Amino acid sequence: MTTKAVGIDIGGTGIKGAIVDVATGELLTDRKKLATPSGGKPEDILDTVLALFEELGDIGSDTPVGVCFPAVIIRGRTMSAANVSKKWIGLEAEKMFEDKLGRSIHFVNDADAAGVAEARYGAAVDAKGLTILTTLGTGIGSAMLYNGELIPNSELGHLQLDGRDAEKLASTSAKEDEDLSWMEWAKRLQRYYEHLELLFSPDLILVGGGISKSSDEFLPLLDLRAPIKPAKLRNNAGIVGAAELATR
Ligand code: BGC
Repeated sequence: MTTKAVGIDIGGTGIKGAIVDVATGELLTDRKKLATPSGGKPEDILDTVLALFEELGDIGSDTPVGVCFPAVIIRGRTMSAANVSKKWIGLEAEKMFEDKLGRSIHFVNDADAAGVAEARYGAAVDAKGLTILTTLGTGIGSAMLYNGELIPNSELGHLQLDGRDAEKLASTSAKEDEDLSWMEWAKRLQRYYEHLELLFSPDLILVGGGISKSSDEFLPLLDLRAPIKPAKLRNNAGIVGAAELATR
């Protein structure tokens, strides 16, 4: 039974990777990180992933590899590009990575990977009913899990609020770009999560993304029906979830 897998998380600013013990969700190596090439074009990202892969050292040829990416992924194809180059739309990304790395790859949405990691090792272990994980960052990613089973490609960052994408209003980038205080930002998050509750009635809401380490600043300001908690795996969630999915 394989317990070792590689997880790679492609983001708007950095591409991170590590070898993961999928029995525990712990990293077996340091997390390596390279800057995402500007423009985020497929061929440049592929080169960077290859470089990152080499930094991870000797990986056995039968070690599963999972890659997560900020787009809708349908049968290995990237079908959207909200915060990355439009060249990704419609691309057979999984196959491109397989050809470049010379091995089989599992390609998955970044928030879905994070959701799977939280359900297996983090804040949603044994969670019953509907869990919605949201990742707050450049955009808003989402993972929906029902009794721990992933319902992929939910894209709840693109729900419309005031005629625009919710992620434009309530992501970490919106907070930074508009220099919002915690209180101002929390008002937007309140509207966003209320809308999620209206549509989906989740049993548990998790908040991931880098800013979740400051969750004490904003989660207590929210008033929702469902419990809302910080995700546990922080910056490793995508890596760990992609690695775990690759072993299935
Ligand atoms: C993308 C999602 C992604 C999220 C977080 C959104 O803009 O549409 O696919 O999960 O950003 O990276």
